[in-house]
Amino acid sequence: MTPTIHILGAGSIGGLFAARLCHHFPVTFVTRQQEEHRKFRFTDSSGQNTPITISCEPHHSNTPLEHLLVTTKSYDTLNALQSLVHRLTPKTHIYLFQNGLGSYFQILEYFQNLEHFQNLEHFQKLNGATPSLYAASTTEGANRPSPGQVIHAGDGQTWIGSLNEAAKSAGCESIITMFRQAGFHTEASPDIWEILWRKLTVNCGINPYTAICQCPNGDILQQPLFQNTIDSLCHELESILRVAGYPEDREAIKARILSVAEATKSNISSMLQDIRNSKPTEISAINGFATDYAHRHGIKADTNEYLTQQVLTLSGQKNT
Ligand SMILES: NC(=O)c1ccc[n+]([C@@H]2O[C@H](COP(=O)([O-])OP(=O)(O)OC[C@H]3O[C@@H](n4cnc5c(N)ncnc54)[C@H](OP(=O)(O)O)[C@@H]3O)[C@@H](O)[C@H]2O)c1
Repeated sequence: MTPTIHILGAGSIGGLFAARLCHHFPVTFVTRQQEEHRKFRFTDSSGQNTPITISCEPHHSNTPLEHLLVTTKSYDTLNALQSLVHRLTPKTHIYLFQNGLGSYFQILEYFQNLEHFQNLEHFQKLNGATPSLYAASTTEGANRPSPGQVIHAGDGQTWIGSLNEAAKSAGCESIITMFRQAGFHTEASPDIWEILWRKLTVNCGINPYTAICQCPNGDILQQPLFQNTIDSLCHELESILRVAGYPEDREAIKARILSVAEATKSNISSMLQDIRNSKPTEISAINGFATDYAHRHGIKADTNEYLTQQVLTLSGQKNT
């Protein structure tokens, strides 16, 4: 039987994956509101509009989850997943889409504590079994200018890789086949952490500058704040990557940041969009995470810390 794909987080990226996958597989949103369906207009990357209707289930439903795409913001992810623990089984595959690394470490820690699962009847006979956890790192771009509209802003590439032993044994061929069938360029990554760390450095070197300088990605390159701090930021990121086990020279990190800023020069980053919409940002999972990671390993991270504080002040948010 074709498995249902559940999507936790019916926002921009969740809407994009739902809109494409629903033509091939049963897709259900897990939503906080009590609702039977969610309807929205989907604009694909060629500008074509299609009406989409996706069925919804509340968290407290009892249907076991087989494939769960988690497309909440990093600061919501642990809470959102905790509310579904009663629906997880050792056969559940969970795919995390978040930018930044903060939520990945929170969730891994949560899943390493087997007590969360051993009290659940369906885990009791399976000593030490946990659901399979994967990262789904994507450069697909989506936004939601209104609750009734999802726009596929740009085609990208998605990499899937295991985050725990259960995922390593289960493999990720089935989700890759499903994503490809829905038209997403998808590859398995033998070491997804490398992709996640490299992406973190790009997010650290672009997002906070766009939010503080209130400008599109490409314009940061002319901003005095960027010009005066990018070298020290890359120095910090070089030390962090070395400790993380993915060493890279600071000049290579800087070159990647400059090249992504240039390639996406007219994009308004999600961090700047969040500031403009008076929403919380993902700064704590990005530069905030880099700062904490550096401090835990005795590395100075003044620039990451400064950028984090500036964005937190702009959004009136606390570091979490
Ligand atoms: N958008 C992109 O192009 C893109 C690309 C790559 C990676 N990402 C990453 O993907 C993640 C999601 O980004 P996004 O742009 O899709 O964010 P988004 O549009 O804000 O969507 C997040 C959704 O999660 C929902 N949500 C929050 N808590 C929930 C809960 N407890 N249960 C159920 N739903 C919950 C929110 O519901 P409400 O609307 O009710 O608040 C919202 O619809 C972020 O970490 C982002 O960095 C995004």
